[in-house]
Amino acid sequence: MTSPVVRDVNSILDVIEAKRPTVASHSRRVAAYGVQLAAQYGLPDAMRETIRVGSLLHDIGKMLVPARILSKPGRLTEQEWHALQSHPERGFDMAERLGFDAGILDIILCHHERNDSSGYPDGLEGNAIPWMVRIVSVMDAFDALTSPRTYRAALSVDAARTLLAREAVDRYCPWVVSGLLSMPRTTLDAVAHGELDRYRPDGPPGHEVLCAATTPWTTACLDDMRSVTAW
Ligand SMILES: [Fe+2]
Repeated sequence: MTSPVVRDVNSILDVIEAKRPTVASHSRRVAAYGVQLAAQYGLPDAMRETIRVGSLLHDIGKMLVPARILSKPGRLTEQEWHALQSHPERGFDMAERLGFDAGILDIILCHHERNDSSGYPDGLEGNAIPWMVRIVSVMDAFDALTSPRTYRAALSVDAARTLLAREAVDRYCPWVVSGLLSMPRTTLDAVAHGELDRYRPDGPPGHEVLCAATTPWTTACLDDMRSVTAW
């Protein structure tokens, strides 16, 4: 029997939510920031949609990284660090199988690449990193800084923006960081404090654009994800 076709990225997010709730909430905030910046720049709908879906799925590879590694408070062993650093490539493989398009796959594979080539998996430098990826990378870093960790409290919006601005020339795209610096503080505060509904990235026309950009994929793919044993 053929599996029914699933065309809704929210089905994938539901799986991530169930297995990796902090990854899901982080991804929603990154998407909200990214969509907001894309709107601020006046980017076309298709690009906003790539940023939205790419942000929502950028850490999908963490589904395959054991939870004890993701939440380990202390220093990771070399083996654990290697497992963590595999998530962009593993996520790329998953999303490719699900039929997502090249722009979204770029975001998943390259979101830990850095301007000064210090990132992974390929050590890409500067303009070799697709610019939509750079938007997601900065928003990813901003949300990480403004979220609490076991070893530190969450940074304020201002402190996180200052820190990223200081590091922009080396590690992050200065163009995108300047965009972050110009985003209204009320928007950043609202997303950071969980008021996602006002900036909810899951509504129309996103679904239709996603369908147009995505080849059909089936519930069998989601079942594969659910059956992975390395939780
Ligand atoms: Fe990541």
